[in-house]
Amino acid sequence: MYRLEQERDADWWEVEALYDLCFAPGRTALSSYRLRDGVPTVADLCALLRDADGTLAAAIRYWPVKVADKPVLLLGPVAVHPTRQGEGLGALLITETLAEARKLGWERVMLVGDAPYYRRFGFRKLERVEMPPPTNPERVLGMPLVTGAWEGVEGSVTKAG
Ligand SMILES: CC(C)(COP(=O)(O)OP(=O)(O)OC[C@H]1O[C@@H](n2cnc3c(N)ncnc32)[C@H](O)[C@@H]1OP(=O)(O)O)[C@@H](O)C(=O)NCCC(=O)NCCS
Repeated sequence: MYRLEQERDADWWEVEALYDLCFAPGRTALSSYRLRDGVPTVADLCALLRDADGTLAAAIRYWPVKVADKPVLLLGPVAVHPTRQGEGLGALLITETLAEARKLGWERVMLVGDAPYYRRFGFRKLERVEMPPPTNPERVLGMPLVTGAWEGVEGSVTKAG
């Protein structure tokens, strides 16, 4: 049994440690982190899964960004502890938080990640949206949360705020 919780301030470093464990060293040098520097998360959508004894199993965070001056949700990082991968926890976190994002009125979401994983949720390559370099354009994926929300929204991804 896992418990889905909103991330609290006190969880921050525990989540950072999980990300350090799950991602290659130097993750914070990635260009997506430059869009996050100094910008608060979308706290309502940052979520954790803990097992029955409280051990952190998975975490997801979101940041606000902009494309063509329109608000966009940047999904990630999302990570599942190596001993818990393949149990559906990543999918659970992603689907639950995207449903909540829709309820909160977000219209579009993007991420930088593996298309073969994210396709199942409805993410597709964003053809005319550019992340700060160096980012492989094949990994720039997006999904509308309301119909047509990405139509005409193109150009560089910029920091919110
Ligand atoms: C990627 C990640 C979040 C997926 O979470 P998870 O709980 O292990 O995945 P789920 O149980 O929801 O889904 C498992 C399925 O996804 C597939 N999958 C996992 N990672 C994948 C990837 N990078 N590319 C393609 N498919 C992938 C598995 O093969 C499995 O396929 P199946 O359903 O056909 O058996 C998790 O494996 C993880 O934390 N990995 C390390 C960090 C990372 O890469 N984060 C994502 C950044 S893009």
